[in-house]
Amino acid sequence: MFDIDRFVAVCRAALMERGSDAIREVVRRAVSEPGDIIAALGEQTGAFAGILVRASDLTILNVVWGARQWTLPHNHHHRAIIGMYGGGEDNIYWRRLPNDAKGRVEATGAASLRRGDVTVLGRDIIHSVTNPLDKLSYALHVYDGDFMAAEGKSCWDAETLAELPYDGPAVSPMFGQALATL
Ligand SMILES: [Fe+2]
Repeated sequence: MFDIDRFVAVCRAALMERGSDAIREVVRRAVSEPGDIIAALGEQTGAFAGILVRASDLTILNVVWGARQWTLPHNHHHRAIIGMYGGGEDNIYWRRLPNDAKGRVEATGAASLRRGDVTVLGRDIIHSVTNPLDKLSYALHVYDGDFMAAEGKSCWDAETLAELPYDGPAVSPMFGQALATL
């Protein structure tokens, strides 16, 4: 069984440890049993972002990506642990151009995450996400702080790659207004 309260407690303990091995392992274990997570959190019929916990030291989101859903490049200002329990996320990683007046970014790497994969993004990482599939993709996103309250976050315009203040509905319109906090 996937028990939310227990998962929250184990994540919290793991985040206290130095380095990211402990939290990576906690999330890896959880997403290795996708059926258990779906049994606990339910199936979705479309794009969805549910808050499992939001606290000053920890945010956990159940992220269900719609078919071909995309995000603008954005940052989090928290360490982020992403574990896939269904489908996939294709990530592009970006870095700031040095001394650019518009804060533009350039692509610097990529990672294709599929069911069972876990990745840890450092505090300063800028990424964009696409669900490359014609079906829903499922992920747990764990942040080591209050993700929604993180001040000063940014996103980047898809065409010009210029820096903008973070704007949830713009970052991924498919989530709509209600939970456009990713
Ligand atoms: Fe993100």
